[in-house]
Amino acid sequence: MKRESWGSRLGFILAVAGSAIGLANIWRFPYLVGMFGGAGFVFVYFASLLIVGFPVLMAEICIGRAGKKDPSGSFAVLGRSKRWGFMGKITIFTGFWVSAFYSAVAGWIIGYLYEALKGNLTHFRSTADSMAHFEGLLASPAFTLVTHFVFLGISAGILLFGIRRGIERANKFLMPLLFAILILLLIYGLTLPRAGDALTFLFKPNFSALTPLAILSALGQSFFTLSLGQGTMATYGSYLDKKENLIFSCVPILIMDTLVSIIGAAVIFTIVFSVGMSPDAGPGLIFHTLPVVFSQIPLGYILAPAFFLLIAVAAITSEISAIEPSISYLIDEWQVPRKKAVMIVSTLIFLLGIPSALSVNLLSNFTLYGVNFLDGAGWLASNLLIPLGGLFATILAGWRWGAKASIEELSYGAEEVMAKNSWLKGYFWFCFKFSAPVLITIVFLHVLLS
Ligand code: PHE
Repeated sequence: MKRESWGSRLGFILAVAGSAIGLANIWRFPYLVGMFGGAGFVFVYFASLLIVGFPVLMAEICIGRAGKKDPSGSFAVLGRSKRWGFMGKITIFTGFWVSAFYSAVAGWIIGYLYEALKGNLTHFRSTADSMAHFEGLLASPAFTLVTHFVFLGISAGILLFGIRRGIERANKFLMPLLFAILILLLIYGLTLPRAGDALTFLFKPNFSALTPLAILSALGQSFFTLSLGQGTMATYGSYLDKKENLIFSCVPILIMDTLVSIIGAAVIFTIVFSVGMSPDAGPGLIFHTLPVVFSQIPLGYILAPAFFLLIAVAAITSEISAIEPSISYLIDEWQVPRKKAVMIVSTLIFLLGIPSALSVNLLSNFTLYGVNFLDGAGWLASNLLIPLGGLFATILAGWRWGAKASIEELSYGAEEVMAKNSWLKGYFWFCFKFSAPVLITIVFLHVLLS
C-alpha cells in the first residue's frame, strides 16, 4: 500500500493548525487567563511556548518525517530498538485516550450549538438560570451519549476519506470558516461598552496572581494546545515531504494558534465585561457566563450559534488529529485498509468515551478520590500521559536519535533560513537537549509530589 501524503503546503499548515487550534484555545485558554489574573499568565504562557512547546512540536514533526511511519514505527526506526517503538505506542495510546474524553466534552458543544440554533440560549436572567439549564441538559444520559456519538461520527466521517480528500479538504474548508467567525466576533466584541477594560485585563501584566500552579498550567497549556505528546504531530509529519521547509510552515502555525487563543480570549472577555460580569468562572465560563450575556446583548441570538459553531469546528479538526495516529498504526503495522481501520478505532473510542459521557449523570457517583471519570481521564492525560509522550519525543530527538541528526532533518528544505539565522541551530539544540526535557520533568515532579 502506498503511503498517503499531503497535497500541498497550505494543506499541511491548515491541518496542523486545525489540530492545534481546539477547545484548549477557545475554551481553556480564556478561562485560565481569567482565573490566573490576566496578562501575567499570558506572558508565562508565551515563554513556555518558546522554550518547550514550539521545539517539541518541531521535534515530533521531524521524527515523523524522518521515520515515515506511524509513531510506533518512526520511534522504533529512529530509536533503533523495539523499546523505543513501545514508547511510540504509548504516544498513540495517549491520542486514543484523549480523543475519547475530548469527544464527550465536545459533544456538549455540539449540544449547545443545537440549543443555540433553537434559540434556547438567549433567555437567561442570571447565571443561576443558565447554570440550571446547563446542568439540566447534562443530567440526561441521552444528551451526553447522543452528542458524543454525533461528534465522533462527524470526525470519523472525515477520516474515512483519508489524508488529502479527508483531513486536508476538511481543514481547508473549516479553518477559514473558523477564522471568519472569530474575526466577526472580535469586531463585534470591540464595539461593546467596556471593551477597553477587557483588553487591559488581557494585556496588562499583573504578576501577583502568578502562583506556581499558574506557571504549571501555562506549561501544560502550551503542550496541550500544540497537540503534543500523543503521536499527532509525528503522524502528520510522516505524511510530509522532505522538500518542505519546516520553519516556514511551522512558524505560521505557532502564530495562528497563539493568535486564536488571544483573539478567543479577547472575544470572550469583551462580551463578558460588556455586561459587567467577571471572567473568572473557570470551565463554566462559556456554558454559564456567556449564555447570560447572550441573553442581554443585541444580536445575542445570532452570536450564540456563531460562537458555538466556532468552538465545534475547532474541536472537530483537533479530534481527527488525535485519532489519526491510531489509524495510521493499524494501516502501517497491521496492513488494515483505511476504512476498516477508521471503523475499528472510532468504535473503540466511542466505547471508551461512554464512561466520560455518563460521568456527569448516571455515573456521577463513581468517583476516585472525589474525581469523576471525565475529570480523572483529563487529569491522567494532562499530567502524566501527555508530558510522558513529550518527554519521549524530546529525549529521542535530543539524545537517542541525537540533536545533530534531528536538527539536520529539520534543516532539509530549510537550508537557507538555517544558514542565514545561525542562532536557530543553537536554539533547537538547547531546547531538544535541555530546556524541554528538564521543564517537562518538572511537571512530573510536581505531579508526583503534590
Ligand atoms: N490541540 C487541541 C486543542 O487545543 C487538543 C488536542 C490534543 C488535539 C491532542 C489533538 C491531540 O484543543
